[in-house]
Amino acid sequence: MKQNRETQSIKRGSGEIAIQASGRVERVLAGEHFGTPPLWLMRQAGRYLPEYRALREKAGSFLDLCFNPVLAATVTLQPIERFDFDAAILFSDILVIPHALGRKVAFVEGEGPRLDPIDAAGIAGLDEGKIGERLQPVFETVAMVRDKLASDKTLIGFCGAPWTVATYMVAGRGTPDQAPARLMAARDSEIFQSLIDRLVVASADYLIRQFRAGADVVQVFDSWSGVLGEAAFERWCIAPMAAIVQAVRAEVPDAKIIGFPKGAGLMLERYVAETGVDGVGIDWTVPLDFARDRLQGHVTVQGNLDPLLLLTGGKAMDEAIDRILAGLSGGRFIFNLGHGIRPETPIAHVERLVRRVRGG
Ligand code: CP3
Repeated sequence: MKQNRETQSIKRGSGEIAIQASGRVERVLAGEHFGTPPLWLMRQAGRYLPEYRALREKAGSFLDLCFNPVLAATVTLQPIERFDFDAAILFSDILVIPHALGRKVAFVEGEGPRLDPIDAAGIAGLDEGKIGERLQPVFETVAMVRDKLASDKTLIGFCGAPWTVATYMVAGRGTPDQAPARLMAARDSEIFQSLIDRLVVASADYLIRQFRAGADVVQVFDSWSGVLGEAAFERWCIAPMAAIVQAVRAEVPDAKIIGFPKGAGLMLERYVAETGVDGVGIDWTVPLDFARDRLQGHVTVQGNLDPLLLLTGGKAMDEAIDRILAGLSGGRFIFNLGHGIRPETPIAHVERLVRRVRGG
């Protein structure tokens, strides 16, 4: 499954065992602890990088870029070349899944994603049989990146969580409060359940194929999980994620999986206990002592610098980085932001963050 990775011998406990040479991100997810945590940033490939903007101009539409393996692999590697992060995250988007299921998806310059809003007939017409064929260029990108990436770096694949992807499919666009999907979930819960069920099948298939192509770890982004009440969170976030984890592990038994239920707050504990993830992403509103005392004993914690502090830089950013390191470096921890990097973020601030996290 893993391509071009040498096996090496290391001393562990009393005897010598052969393990796959691997990156620090997956080692932390497997239970190791490092005093200096591994580091990557959500949305690290993107518009804050001049080299991304230059390539993006030549690539045609955003989806054309996502489906061009040579260009998508180049963009995936750009932040590693510039900042030497510990992990590369596949350059793609969560909305390639509705596209592969047969829905129309477009990215409008300066506005964001646009889809045909889905209804009961549309849900019945979804076709999960074509993930392998329609997303073939993504798997080629994964294989190409794994081939080029140093063996001590991790390649992270990803997908959107069913709830978050459904919010875009139902509304046809991003919305401030995800009301269209929440209304469908409340009024027509069986129809909405059938949409979530289809997305569980498609997402698990998609992640399994990313692992087979060479991904070392996958992350599932549930960017809008924070708008749901307790019962809705159980049904639309925890249960689908547990089903995805189970389906992926049935095919890839040692699959390393990070869940990022943004805004989940007090529900994080149950999310961790009931989904079976190896790592959990936390946003910047999660108190560090809660993360340390209630989560870190069970999973690897990943986060949680406010992206606006990375944008701000200076003393405010330094202090926040130090607090996070002091709070979480004692256990299994991956340094990251609490959500994606903002396009306006100065490169110099990212360089400063990398130096500070690594103790420079
Ligand atoms: O560097 C990386 O993290 C890898 C690439 C990546 C993109 N999108 C590229 C992208 C990842 C992991 C995503 C995830 C994604 N996409 C999420 C979940 C994470 C989050 O931020 O909450 C969501 C909700 C989306 C949906 C999406 N894609 C929106 C709302 C938009 C428009 C707004 C925006 O951020 O630009 C996109 C477009 C998109 N996805 C861009 C990039 C680099 C910008 C498109 C461009 O370059 O023109």
